[in-house]
This record gives sequence, structure tokens and C-alpha cells, in this order.
Amino acid sequence: MACATKSSLCLYLTLFIVMVTISSPVSAQLSVSFYANTCPSVFDTVRTAVRSAINREARMGASLLRMFFHDCFVNGCDAGILLDDTASFTGEKTALPNNNSVRGYEVIDNIKTQLDRACGGSVVSCADIIAISARDSVVELGGPSYSVPVGRRDARTASRDGANSNLPGFSSNLDVLISQFSNKGFTAREMVALSGAHTIGQARCVTFRNRIYTETNIDSAFATSRQANCPQAVGSGDDNLAPLDAQSPNRFGNNYFQALTNRRGLLHSDQVLFNGGSTDSIVTTYSNDATTFNTDFSNAMIKMGNLSPLTGTQGEVRTNCRRF
Ligand code: HEM
Ligand SMILES: *[C@@H]1O[C@H](CO)[C@@H](O)[C@H](O)[C@H]1NC(C)=O
Repeated sequence: MACATKSSLCLYLTLFIVMVTISSPVSAQLSVSFYANTCPSVFDTVRTAVRSAINREARMGASLLRMFFHDCFVNGCDAGILLDDTASFTGEKTALPNNNSVRGYEVIDNIKTQLDRACGGSVVSCADIIAISARDSVVELGGPSYSVPVGRRDARTASRDGANSNLPGFSSNLDVLISQFSNKGFTAREMVALSGAHTIGQARCVTFRNRIYTETNIDSAFATSRQANCPQAVGSGDDNLAPLDAQSPNRFGNNYFQALTNRRGLLHSDQVLFNGGSTDSIVTTYSNDATTFNTDFSNAMIKMGNLSPLTGTQGEVRTNCRRF
């Protein structure tokens, strides 16, 4: 740059560049050492709490993983999903994909209380607690570990419309899934890797009824066995649960992809990933190669955690995760 000479113009130019760099919100970065001084036990505390929540109920690991996805896909990873509706506020919690479906809110409240005690005050954001809990859940259930940079802050807003429009639905076709993930910056391959989260957890009859009674790209023995606990009549047994991955619903692995290649995907949106379309080869790869799946899943999770976080002085660190 034309700044080789020792002029005052040069000094001002340098100062200007430094100030723009410091103040620009887009340059704000999450970092694993963000709480190194203010709450050094953050990762230990969350890991221990997630472990005991999963020991109480194995499914909780899946629920916390899903909460992270549903938080990050709506206005970024900002804990918007945790805000309770009030008389004057309507948030994401009661949006269609979340209402009576996303779970684990008490676990997050409990972790927040423990962290505030361990760190001598409200230091760690609810958004970071969700992100760390998702990773720890994956690890606790036998999946890969990956780093969770932190320093997110909590939103003072939430968007029900955003939740209803950005979160994928169980009857979506492949082109819709590809485009919804592409809207958030993910490739089709990353979308398939992230869908591998369905290696754990449960779904309600109401989300797979149509598939097990009317679809033809389904293993017939599998359909019959799922019908036993999910009556065809709309409104009967709607909340009955079935594992998204029948083989090992509490063990994180690549069985989900093997199930898809055998036409044993539970949701319509699962089986479309392997139904003669452009993502078949990715499903085949993951079904044969757990290491590649683990690597791709980890990288995509880190990427998800970077979806427009609030940093610096944006938003706040909530004291109660349910209220701003
Ligand atoms: C590709 C589009 C996706 C669709 C259409 C979808 C849809 C669903 C549906 C309908 C359920 C069952 C909800 C219920 O019955 O209440 C579910 C459960 C679940 N989803 Fe997804 N999902 C998708 C992607 C993801 C991603 C990217 C993740 C995480 C990275 C994820 C994690 C989970 C988990 C872990 C569960 C089980 C939760 C529990 O047992 O509490 N899903 N999903
Ligand atoms: C959410 O679920 C509750 C309880 O089932 C129900 O009363 C309420 O109407 C639902 N809210 C929305 C917005 O669908």
C-alpha cells in the first residue's frame, strides 16, 4: 500500500483500518477460549450435566441435538427457541415444527443454574449452552467429537414465522430440503450428513403415518411393524413414538444410512435422501464408511454453530434462558 512513507496520512490510514477491523460486527469471531477467564469450568460443567441428563433418560441426547438445529436455523444460534411466549410476545417455541416436539428446555435451565453458580454470575449465554450440549450429547452417545467455539450472545427477539418457514418439514421432498439447507449455506452433501442426526431419537406417529400406510418405497416388513404402534386413523395414537433409527436409537452411528439403503427410513424426508435422486451416492458412501460420515457431520455441525451468532455487545447474556 502507498503507506511506506512516515507521513501523518499514513498514520491516519493505519488507524482507520485498525478501527474498522475492531468495530466491524462481521469480523467478530467465536473462540473456544472465550470463557477461559470468566468461566473456565464451562465445558466440564456442561459435559457433566448432559451426561447425567442422558443417564436419566437416554433420549435426551437426541432432544438436545435437535434443539441446537432448530435454534440455529432460525435467525442464527441465538437461543431464540428458548423464549417462552407471553401475553405480549410470541416466539419460536410454539411454532409448528417446535410445539410439543422440541424438548430439553429443563435441562438447559438446569445447566444455566449450575454455570451461574460455578462462575459466580450470569456469564455463559444460553446460546452457547445449547451449542455445547449438542456436541456433548453426540459424544455421550458414541458419536464424534468436534470443537465448539463459543462467545454467542442471546437474542432479545424470536421469530415464529422464521421457524415455520426455515425449518424443514417431514413431508418435504429432496429439492425442498436441498433448497432450505442451501438458504443457510449448506451443500446437499452437508444436508445429508446433518440428517444423519436421525441416527438417534424418536418421532411421533403423526410425522410418519402417511409414509407407513401409503408410500411404496418402503420395506414392507418395516412398514407393518411400524403400523402396529401407529394407527391409520388420523387423531388416534398421534403421539406414539418410534425410533428414527430402529437399530440403535441411543447410539450415534451410520446405521441410519444403512436403513435408508434398505428403504427403512421412518420419515418421508429421510427416505427421499435415497430414492433414486442426486443424493443416493452420498447416502451409500456414509452407509459404508462411518469415518467419512463422522468427519462430514462434525464439520457441518461446526458450520451450523456459526450461523449468524450475536457477538460483542449485540443481544445480551440472559439470566433466565426463557426470558429476555
Ligand atoms: C433434513 C431435514 C429434517 C427434517 C424434515 C427433520 C424432521 C424431524 C421430525 C419430523 C422429527 C420428529 C419430531 C416429532 O415427532 O416431534 C425429527 C426428530 C429429530 N431430528 Fe430432525 N429433521 C431434519 C433434520 C435434522 C437435523 C439437521 C438434525 C440435527 C443436526 C436433526 C435432529 C433430530 C433429532 C436428534 C431428532 C429426535 C429428537 C428427539 O428424540 O427428541 N434433524 N426431525
Ligand atoms: C401448542 O400446543 C399447545 C398444547 O398442545 C396448544 O394448546 C397450542 O394451541 C399450540 N400452539 C400453537 C401455536 O399451535
